[in-house]
Amino acid sequence: MPRAVQYKTYGGTEVLQVVEVGTPEPTEGEVLVKVKAAGINPGESKTRAGTLAQRPLPSGQGIDLAGVVVRTGPGVTGFAAGDEVMGFTWQHASHADYVAVEAANLIAKPARLSWEVAGSLFVVGTSAYAAVRAVAPQPGETVVVSGAAGGVGMLAVQLARRAGADVIGIAGPANHRWLSEHDVTPIAYGEGVRDRLRQVTDRVDAFIDTHGDGYLELAVALGVTPTRINTLVDYSGAARLGAKTEACRAAATSGILTDLAQLAATGALDVPIAATYPLDQVRAAYDELAGPHPRGKIVLLT
Ligand SMILES: NC(=O)c1ccc[n+]([C@@H]2O[C@H](COP(=O)([O-])OP(=O)(O)OC[C@H]3O[C@@H](n4cnc5c(N)ncnc54)[C@H](OP(=O)(O)O)[C@@H]3O)[C@@H](O)[C@H]2O)c1
Repeated sequence: MPRAVQYKTYGGTEVLQVVEVGTPEPTEGEVLVKVKAAGINPGESKTRAGTLAQRPLPSGQGIDLAGVVVRTGPGVTGFAAGDEVMGFTWQHASHADYVAVEAANLIAKPARLSWEVAGSLFVVGTSAYAAVRAVAPQPGETVVVSGAAGGVGMLAVQLARRAGADVIGIAGPANHRWLSEHDVTPIAYGEGVRDRLRQVTDRVDAFIDTHGDGYLELAVALGVTPTRINTLVDYSGAARLGAKTEACRAAATSGILTDLAQLAATGALDVPIAATYPLDQVRAAYDELAGPHPRGKIVLLT
């Protein structure tokens, strides 16, 4: 029987279950995909914990996905059985053997892109894209990224570099070498971060925050105009200070995902994979994500 991850009550990873379900039927405009890889993201942990928008229960999980088309629903053109695809579903349903996905949310998987990267690119890639676009870095400007080696941050620093900006990445020491190798100036977070920033630059033009916890105030203190600050986390701070909150929903188009997939397939965008887990070890995957974890995406494989 096909399996899907579900939770019946809000909570930690202990509420996650892998249950046997029927194969979903693709309705008008949908494509049935046999999932091969599906990334996990902190936002899904927050949703499952009940701290974001409430969901009808039981709920599935999973936005990112890559897999093979099984069949198409009525009205779908452009995809056929056997096609290798990647994309996203807002139905929180990709942590499963099969998922029915709106055709508009799928693109062809570049042949050279691994299943792991294809299945975990959407949320972090489009969030990074939206955040960089929101702060509009110009060549020669200086952009600071907090959480610079996290799932979103590691792509935001690369996209900001591609825009021609000088990039400073705030990250743990284990990630400093990787940041340097990607032409990003690393500095450590924690006590004294403002002084360390001042030691490496006397001007910050834009700030991308993927961590929260005071970085918006730091950005303002560094003289960054609020409209050139984007946070993925601190919504109340953004409302108070006039900063932006662009993330994946602002860049959820097949065109942007296609561009990101091509960059990743050619190696122009480095998308490290930290770990893979079989679907039935979904709890362990989310437990790893919740703690300090190696750089890169954590991906469920079916
Ligand atoms: N609103 C949206 O639509 C949206 C979309 C995507 C993500 N998000 C949110 O964005 C956040 C990041 O997501 P992610 O996928 O990038 O998570 P992630 O892969 O778990 O990365 C988190 C990063 O935070 C860093 N970090 C820990 N303590 C820090 C500190 N004091 N200062 C600066 N960085 C610190 C870690 O750095 P080290 O590993 O270097 O120690 C880690 O790399 C999450 O809260 C997520 O929910 C929101």
